[in-house]
Amino acid sequence: MRFRETQVIVFANQKGGCGKTSSTISTAAAFASLGYSACVIDTDPQCNSTDNLGIDPDETLRQGKYTLADAYLSKVPCSRIAVAPEGRFDGMISVVPGHRALSSVSARLENEVLTLLTDENSSDLDGEDLRREHRMRLKRSIDSLRGHYDVVLIDTPPNLDFLMTSALIAADWYIVPAFPSGYDLKGLEVLTRTIDKVRKQYNPKLNLAGVLLGNYDRTTSLDRQVHDLLKQRFTPALVFATTIARSVRYREATMSRITIFEHPEGKEQAAQYAGLVKEMVNRGAKGAFGATLNPLPDVKTVESVIGEDQAAQEVVNG
Ligand SMILES: Nc1ncnc2c1ncn2[C@@H]1O[C@H](COP(=O)(O)OP(=O)(O)OP(=O)(O)O)[C@@H](O)[C@H]1O
Ligand SMILES: [Mg+2]
Repeated sequence: MRFRETQVIVFANQKGGCGKTSSTISTAAAFASLGYSACVIDTDPQCNSTDNLGIDPDETLRQGKYTLADAYLSKVPCSRIAVAPEGRFDGMISVVPGHRALSSVSARLENEVLTLLTDENSSDLDGEDLRREHRMRLKRSIDSLRGHYDVVLIDTPPNLDFLMTSALIAADWYIVPAFPSGYDLKGLEVLTRTIDKVRKQYNPKLNLAGVLLGNYDRTTSLDRQVHDLLKQRFTPALVFATTIARSVRYREATMSRITIFEHPEGKEQAAQYAGLVKEMVNRGAKGAFGATLNPLPDVKTVESVIGEDQAAQEVVNG
């Protein structure tokens, strides 16, 4: 580990197709390329990040291994679920695979609550306690990864249901990926309200690392307008200066089940994600935006703890 503490970052936006999965796996690959270990958690029943990282959820079960559904249903720690895709990323990325069974997790847990409530020895409040415990299960499972990876990156499904809220409860930071094509102020207000509730009720430390504009064409005035609107809405400091340009390479990568870092013609795109990671790390080093905008530990501070580290210095220097 290069960071002093594991940073858990969730990519959250309930809008479909706004770059959650591509940002999660590309950021993981970027961290790995810069020498940081990453674990990707796939909370989406569509399992797109699991697929992209080369893990087959059904094959995983056939081999007697766990998927993320077991974290929710049987409280299995993520440390026992994580697998490293073979022959990729020099072992720097692990995956906690999703499974389509995740789509029924919420209903199955709610059944447990209903069963409890039919017991004459329990009250309505016991039901509430159990629901609360269910929402905390992902956090407890992910906490088993702390101290083992530099970053844990959570991909989420396109809604604000149980799987998304439990991911927000589990995280230290959230990143809001947005495409200019799908920019939706009302949707972002609902997301912000949900995050406020998560903070008040479960996770007061949850902070915005930044809004990430992807699928961005800087030559289009509409796209530039959306970028400006996002800066107005979130303040400029909270929108990443790094944008991810529109490119067909992402769809090609998605279809070939590889990350942009493995795409033979994806160098330019990969460099943008590496830039994003450097921006996150360097924000800490500069300290220009205050404590709440310091998504990752100051690399220099980490260095003073772990000694001389040439690669980390390269990151600081860009
Ligand atoms: N910078 C980009 N330029 C062009 N296409 C992109 C870019 N980033 C991602 N895409 C493509 O856009 C599509 C949607 O992206 P992605 O799957 O990451 O969104 P998502 O928010 O995870 O979707 P869902 O809500 O369904 O999970 C994918 O086909 C992806 O390859
Ligand atoms: Mg997705």
